[in-house]
Amino acid sequence: MKVILKNQKLENAACDALIINLFEGVKTPSGVTGAIDEALDGLVKKIIKEEDFKGKLGSTLVIRTNGEIPAKKVIVVGLGEEEKFNLAAVRKASAAAIRQAKREKAKTVCTILHGASIGKIDPYDAAQAATEVSQLALYEFDKYKSRDKNEPRKEIQTLIITEIDKSKIKDIEAGIKRGNLIARAQKLARDLVTEPALSATPTKLANVAKQVAKENRLKIKVLDREACKKLKMGAFLAVAQGSDEPPKFIEIKYTPKRKPKKHVAIVGKGITFDSGGLSLKPAGSMETMKDDMSGAAAVISAMSTMKELQPDVAITMIVAATENMPSGKAYRPGDVVRAMNGKTIEILNTDAEGRVTLADAVSYVVRQKPDEIIDLATLTGACVVALGDTSNGVMTNDQKLADKIIKAGNEAGERMWQLPLYDEDREKIKSDIADMINTGSKGKSGAQNGGVFIEKFVNDIPWVHIDIAGPSWIDKENEYGPKGPTGVGVRTLINYLTNY
Ligand code: BES
Ligand code: MN
Ligand code: ZN
Repeated sequence: MKVILKNQKLENAACDALIINLFEGVKTPSGVTGAIDEALDGLVKKIIKEEDFKGKLGSTLVIRTNGEIPAKKVIVVGLGEEEKFNLAAVRKASAAAIRQAKREKAKTVCTILHGASIGKIDPYDAAQAATEVSQLALYEFDKYKSRDKNEPRKEIQTLIITEIDKSKIKDIEAGIKRGNLIARAQKLARDLVTEPALSATPTKLANVAKQVAKENRLKIKVLDREACKKLKMGAFLAVAQGSDEPPKFIEIKYTPKRKPKKHVAIVGKGITFDSGGLSLKPAGSMETMKDDMSGAAAVISAMSTMKELQPDVAITMIVAATENMPSGKAYRPGDVVRAMNGKTIEILNTDAEGRVTLADAVSYVVRQKPDEIIDLATLTGACVVALGDTSNGVMTNDQKLADKIIKAGNEAGERMWQLPLYDEDREKIKSDIADMINTGSKGKSGAQNGGVFIEKFVNDIPWVHIDIAGPSWIDKENEYGPKGPTGVGVRTLINYLTNY
């Protein structure tokens, strides 16, 4: 879908569906909504009353126009309570409205920019948010669906944002551009995660990373099993040894043209399929485990925007990609493996594999002495139990950095919620015969067990661990897309890397 800006009155725009809005409880529309109502001789006001439309955030009402204005239908979207109105409400209203327009089979849609005038939201932010979610709301993964080639696709082709205030045009145009770019990146992440593990192998991830690097003129290194062995990545390779798919250790580097303000390392968990290994998962828990490379998808997708965004920080992206499979060659509970930094890990459960691969991913990048390390990982079921699919679990050794990441995430519409790491939690990963175990206290503080484990490898560099296991996958469609992979993390990363 194309998103374009037109410097014209909304009521004059020719389209199949025209989107206006209403705050909760408003009975007499004002502003642009009022202008449309007037152009339709009070029809909007009348139908709102007849249908008892309350303006609840994200609710919609469809009105047929009968030719008084060029648009065939008007969609009223609720903005919720005026006092609570914010950027998150812009997202929800924009996404709900475009989905309604899709249900109405509209090809061309025009819309008011929610919040840019009545809601006092910065026009740039409003345009970016509206564009992002409108693109994401229409996302579909249909490459494996048979369909009649003769039947044309019924898709929304153009979204026209209208604005009469000339002084806002430039900002809105810039916001649309950024929104499109970020949505494209997040859709790439969704594509990568939705792709079955049969084809989304470590090799495939490496090839996509190569493509991203080429398109963005970034340096890339892909290490195979032999190269990882030379670097003594005993932890990563232990997880990989049970699989017939060759593992790939992927590093991408972005360097700004001018002297970088800092060097940020972003690390994504890249288990392309998590069977649990010999500590095999029950069948039901395995159904979604192609998503165990959501962290990898997020960091690779974030790198896909570098050519356009050109942030002023140096970035090193790391993905240690492998499957976690049971076999005669698989690592076992009880095994002791040695990570690249020399630390030893007693494996008690082969299903706690993500942290074991991250041990080497983090050890590798620590050698480069980055100023900050951010890892994104679908690390624990415990985090899903704690926070559900509505927020990501944040753990850290540096509160200042965590505060910034939490803010960047929440601003971008990806909720972050911090979990504590206490010394008592650190005690729980002690091993009788090695430097640490890969599990922790049974049935308790599962998310933090993962956090304190990774912390062992960051060598006091400011670090934030984001457990995205919950929000990376939704079981039911929502305003922002279909059920399944969400592409979470992309927006937080891009917002953080470009604005903080
Ligand atoms: N990939 C899983 C975590 C996960 C669970 C992600 C559900 C998304 C949804 C991870 O590798 C795992 O299996 N973790 C174990 C750790 C345990 C064995 C200590 C878990 O959470 O049960
Ligand atoms: Mn696992
Ligand atoms: Zn896993």
